Amino acid sequence: MARLTSLLTSALAVFGANAASSVLDLIPSNFDDVVLKSGKPALVEFFAPWCGHCKTLAPVYEELAAGFEFAKDKVVIGKVDADDHKELGRRFGVQGFPTLKWFDGKSDTPEDYKGGRDLDSLTAFIREKTALKPKTKKAAPSQVEMLNDSTFKKLIGGDKDVLVAFTAPWCGHCKTLAPIWETLATDFASEPSVLIAKVDAEAPNAKATAQDQGVSSYPTIKYFPKGSSEAMPYNGGRSEADFVTFLNEKAGTHRAVGGGLDATAGTIAALDSVVSKFTGGAGLAEVAEEATKAAASLKDKYAEYYVKVFGKVKDNEGYVEKELKRLTGLLKKGGLAPEKVDDLISRSNILRKFMSDQGKSEL
Ligand SMILES: *[C@@H]1O[C@H](CO)[C@@H](O)[C@H](O)[C@H]1NC(C)=O
Repeated sequence: MARLTSLLTSALAVFGANAASSVLDLIPSNFDDVVLKSGKPALVEFFAPWCGHCKTLAPVYEELAAGFEFAKDKVVIGKVDADDHKELGRRFGVQGFPTLKWFDGKSDTPEDYKGGRDLDSLTAFIREKTALKPKTKKAAPSQVEMLNDSTFKKLIGGDKDVLVAFTAPWCGHCKTLAPIWETLATDFASEPSVLIAKVDAEAPNAKATAQDQGVSSYPTIKYFPKGSSEAMPYNGGRSEADFVTFLNEKAGTHRAVGGGLDATAGTIAALDSVVSKFTGGAGLAEVAEEATKAAASLKDKYAEYYVKVFGKVKDNEGYVEKELKRLTGLLKKGGLAPEKVDDLISRSNILRKFMSDQGKSEL
């Protein structure tokens, strides 16, 4: 076993770039130990790096292996670069790529896999052979709102600012955009008034909308401010940061790339100016009263928070520093609901306004 472990470790070292993969890389030095003598059955793909069908299979195979990863002591899902290791391919009569073979873990005579190269067929095969049920990690649900003709009419012009990407299934730039769009939607998931949406311009139930909108190239991105069905075309860059900046500007949000909030979130200019009088040396009682008045007209929970901080400072001079430290600690600890994180960042931003000028430049 020690030898096997060291072989596997060296295999992993060789294929270090694939360390996150659930598919085991098989090479001449580990093949016999892992596939023929381990007593564990193995599905082995013989592939060549230049082969198109192999590239198509790769993500499916990866998903298959991830599903059976929990049972890796019972079944191996592996692959052989048979271009690099021609002798291994030759030994098992591999003539085309990809070739999939099932080894029972005891004999060196594999069985050809003749099923489909889709995930369902491959999974069914392993299930039948091993009686193991795959465990699929449920992907986090998408925060992108797929709109069809009826939901588009309902949501656009409503109480949300909506950024819509019109896409087509065959469009390469849309595929590039897709993961960025998912990330963007996650960044804005706890922003109740912003919606990141998508219209599949070729879906039968959404086609008419794309036509109405005059969409003729993909992806086309449009912004619909709340209350308006008049689109604003989006022609900016297509990075997460580009979209976040655009939305912050248009929708008045304070999102940061990655889903957090920027340093202005929660802060209110009118109250900041009251706070700066205080940090500039004005009397506490006087500014506290001014803040209370300003907050009363704003009816905003963070405006109330300014008032609360003034109250605390009156009783406890070191309050701001201590409280900021406490909130920073909570944020560092992590594991909080996104709304809670937003709230703590907003309050921290306000507290920083109360620090003396010297403190400000430090933070
Ligand atoms: C449009 O989407 C909504 C929500 O996903 C769904 O309930 C509705 O059935 C869809 N309408 C059509 C025509 O597909």
